[in-house]
Amino acid sequence: MGKIIVGKTTDIPPGKMQKVAADGKEVLVINIDGNFYAMNDTCTHAGASLSEGSLEGHVVTCGWHGAKFDCKTGNLSAFPAKIKDLQSYKVTVESGNIFLEA
Ligand code: FES
Repeated sequence: MGKIIVGKTTDIPPGKMQKVAADGKEVLVINIDGNFYAMNDTCTHAGASLSEGSLEGHVVTCGWHGAKFDCKTGNLSAFPAKIKDLQSYKVTVESGNIFLEA
């Protein structure tokens, strides 16, 4: 994917998350206490958009069936079935702009 600008830090306040398009993928960008993280937006269980789920601490819970993913790694942290982790992306901030790198 290279390095792609996906928005401004002011677009996503602390404790919020937002779906963005990056290189043809839907990616969820999350602000936790001013630190930004990114992982694929599509739940690996049945394809829900995680942007419609909820954020608590650094864990996103899928709104459909409750799978929990760690924003910092994209790893599944809780679900009764074995489903895949999410791909996560390196995030950098320069001059108030958010960049993703694959
Ligand atoms: S689609 Fe996310 S838990 Fe089922």
